[in-house]
Amino acid sequence: MTPTISDLEGLARQAGEILRAGFGTRPGFNHTHTVDYKGVINPVTEIDRQSESYLVHEIHQRFPSHSIVAEESGGLKGSKEHEWFIDPLDGTVNFTHGVPIFSVSIAYANSGEILLGVVYDPNRDECFSAQSGKGAWLNGETIKVSTTQVLDNSLLVTGFPYDIRSNPQNNLDYFAYFSKNSQGVRRLGSAAMDLCYVANGRFDGFWEMRLNSWDVAAGGLIAREAGAVVTNMQGGADFMSPPQSILAANSTIHPLMLQVFHKFSEIKE
Ligand code: IPD
Ligand code: CA
Ligand code: CA
Repeated sequence: MTPTISDLEGLARQAGEILRAGFGTRPGFNHTHTVDYKGVINPVTEIDRQSESYLVHEIHQRFPSHSIVAEESGGLKGSKEHEWFIDPLDGTVNFTHGVPIFSVSIAYANSGEILLGVVYDPNRDECFSAQSGKGAWLNGETIKVSTTQVLDNSLLVTGFPYDIRSNPQNNLDYFAYFSKNSQGVRRLGSAAMDLCYVANGRFDGFWEMRLNSWDVAAGGLIAREAGAVVTNMQGGADFMSPPQSILAANSTIHPLMLQVFHKFSEIKE
């Protein structure tokens, strides 16, 4: 049995409810969740885990043979023909600080091809979805990428890896370059939402280094179905094998950004 887009939407909305119910304010001020650290600046809360347990349990009940790749528990082994990619809370740093920018991300792939993706933002009740070959939607309305033609007029978004302190490949050089050559570079803190905001034209381009499959599986499909070109930062098709970079932008901005990454890598060699 294979899932439908309504199955994913229902799951994402329910998990979004878990996030909304658990969302406190800044630690120390009506703080309602506990924070553990997977790394010095990489937090996880019991709400990440509750959301993930709900999703893994529900998917396993309905599709017992499917395999699940999920951030906090690792997921469940099963048939590789049917694979789910789950980020139960994308934007945990925001969440722990009381910043209402975070989402749930769920994708379903069949024999390695991502067929369905949903990203739900419980704070704005925005449900982004896509079906391979059929389009992308926000709360049921078709969405399309922007038509911005030049970098000077573009608004971009990026993110930084959790090993920013120790790894010299930390994205700060690209961030500086694009900050001076666009209308601005935002850092929202949820890669899944960054991709959806490219999909509906709020942003013209998104790039990031060293992401995981659960960060990008759903958002990558949504952006692509809305007309974005989605590759890694070398221009290759694979944006899923972790740790992997991603570049998603409208079809005019994408090659312009790619040129910059190429130029920088030539200088570094
Ligand atoms: C993080 C967010 C952030 C991105 C990080 C991700 P998490 O996911 O998507 O925007 O910059 O690279 O790891 O840890 O909040 O699920
Ligand atoms: Ca994530
Ligand atoms: Ca997460």
